[in-house]
Amino acid sequence: MTDRPITPRDLIAKKRKGERFAAITAYDYTSAQIVDRAGIPVILVGDTLGMVVLGHEKTLSVSLDAMIHHTAAVTRGAQKALVIGDMPFMTYQVNPEDALRNAGRLMQETGCSAVKLEGGKEMAPTVAKLVNAGIPVCGHIGYCPQSTNATGGPRVQGKSIDAAKAMIEDALALEEAGAFAIVLELVPRSLAAMITERVSIPTIGIGSGVDCDAEIQVFHDLFGLYSDFVPKHTRRYLNLAEQLQDAAARYVDDVAERQFPGPLQSSDLKPDVKRDLNRELATDAASAAGAQRMSAVFPKLVNGGTD
Ligand code: KIV
Repeated sequence: MTDRPITPRDLIAKKRKGERFAAITAYDYTSAQIVDRAGIPVILVGDTLGMVVLGHEKTLSVSLDAMIHHTAAVTRGAQKALVIGDMPFMTYQVNPEDALRNAGRLMQETGCSAVKLEGGKEMAPTVAKLVNAGIPVCGHIGYCPQSTNATGGPRVQGKSIDAAKAMIEDALALEEAGAFAIVLELVPRSLAAMITERVSIPTIGIGSGVDCDAEIQVFHDLFGLYSDFVPKHTRRYLNLAEQLQDAAARYVDDVAERQFPGPLQSSDLKPDVKRDLNRELATDAASAAGAQRMSAVFPKLVNGGTD
């Protein structure tokens, strides 16, 4: 494996070689460093940012400026992984020109290497426009969180024959338009397998079974940081929220009981400086006390005769 940053072509090569790979979301410098050093080849700065970091109920309120802010931090933290910036709601749906302008900003102002946008066939002209301008695009079909108000919340998509066929057509249209990968969210396992077999670009599953070319999960779900709800499709590799809460409570106790900071976390004066300083302070205090006494006994003398 080389040390150069991963490219979209590397991911397509992985599919060709049958090398299944992991992808993960990240939203800041530190977590990007951690997952990059763990060897995860793809980091998505997803608009799940709105939920797991910013505390919104849905992803729809994430602005392009917020995505740019967080994607730039992730890009600084990732040395090797391919960083994909998510296009927020209404930054690409209006028309392909807007999409190009906004995707251009996302890449130019953050240094990310690709963008992701939601939608199938209807988005193919937009994907083609971006790809023609040199912007690698990852598609996203199945459950599309930005359309949650229209589709009625997170639920498995493509369950009828017609819906399944439409999803296969969506995947083919995205491939044809030049997308380098497609996220399949909440797609029945066998349909995800059929799509995976029919496209030459990697499918990246989430809640779509084990037959996709890759898997993506949300950082906060995987490591137990987000506790508002736990999606069925995730597996908790850590319970960080609980561990952090316990650690925070120990910190509170240590501070209250003067157990923190300890000698290792503090610095002190050299003993001779401390001794001399104490002496000088004692002398100063003694003279101040003397002056006070004088002032009480001979107020006119001490206060310049004004009394
Ligand atoms: O925004 C996001 O994090 C995503 C993933 C869940 C694929 O789109």
